[in-house]
Amino acid sequence: MDDPFDLSREAAYLAWRTRKLRAYPAEITDLRVSIGRLDRPTQAERSALKTRIDSFNMALVQVDPGEINAEALLSFTRALGLRRTDANLFADASAVSSICATARTSDETGRGGGDIGETATPGDFIPYTNKALSWHTDGYYNAPDAQVGAWCLFCVRAARDGGENGLIDHEMLYLRLRDASPQHIVALSDPRALGIPAHVRDGRTLRPESIGPVFSVRGGCLHMRYSARGRHVIWRDTADTHAARDALHRLFSRPDVFTFRCTLRPGEGLVSNNVLHCRSGFEDEDDPAKARLLYRLRFLDRIAID
Ligand SMILES: [Fe+2]
Repeated sequence: MDDPFDLSREAAYLAWRTRKLRAYPAEITDLRVSIGRLDRPTQAERSALKTRIDSFNMALVQVDPGEINAEALLSFTRALGLRRTDANLFADASAVSSICATARTSDETGRGGGDIGETATPGDFIPYTNKALSWHTDGYYNAPDAQVGAWCLFCVRAARDGGENGLIDHEMLYLRLRDASPQHIVALSDPRALGIPAHVRDGRTLRPESIGPVFSVRGGCLHMRYSARGRHVIWRDTADTHAARDALHRLFSRPDVFTFRCTLRPGEGLVSNNVLHCRSGFEDEDDPAKARLLYRLRFLDRIAID
């Protein structure tokens, strides 16, 4: 097998690299696909999504805002081959999380936390505030064998101001890092490369420690597990790891990783194979019924459209 992510297969890597770069540079509008019925995408719509996903690991979906509800989202994601949802703290019964700022009433957010919810409130976590979120992939704190392969994020209501997402195809980061030095790939593929301490509150472990690689190859596909945050993160303490982490960090300001920027409007959604993303802070309307509201689903699967 010619695995482009095998460091000993230079020819396979170069062939993959050439194919990969053919799609870039690209604009956010190149990612857009209009869907008539979210719960029942047509073959042509699925094919248009597949083209974007194959090139960029993500697509921007446009639907009538009235189409967006939990049931339709689950049907839509099933049509993309996504079945195994990632159980997370605040997903409701159908695994759809409502992302909005502050701990509003649980009736509005639909977040039941079970026994964990009694001690950890959504406001404890930055995604559920109006603060900026640094670069990360979803589920970096999950166990290595329960990594998030794909996610989707759909906008019901936008913020009054801000809430812009940055998005980078993680394969593009890999490509630039490997070009800079294969040693960076070696360091970041080490199973001890990146640790996230356990989340403990009042003596209870709400989430165990997670230690694993940044880059791994799963079923022949490249997976990335990453958080740019500076606190509550433990990088393997070797010179190679620190050099690779710094090189990766510097890429975020380089134009040739082709960062997409997008502020989701009502009816717009992103689907991705868990690409790198960040979010700017935002200002909301005072009325909670008009405040920013996004629906999110996470899956252990990657997108597979036939
Ligand atoms: Fe995220």
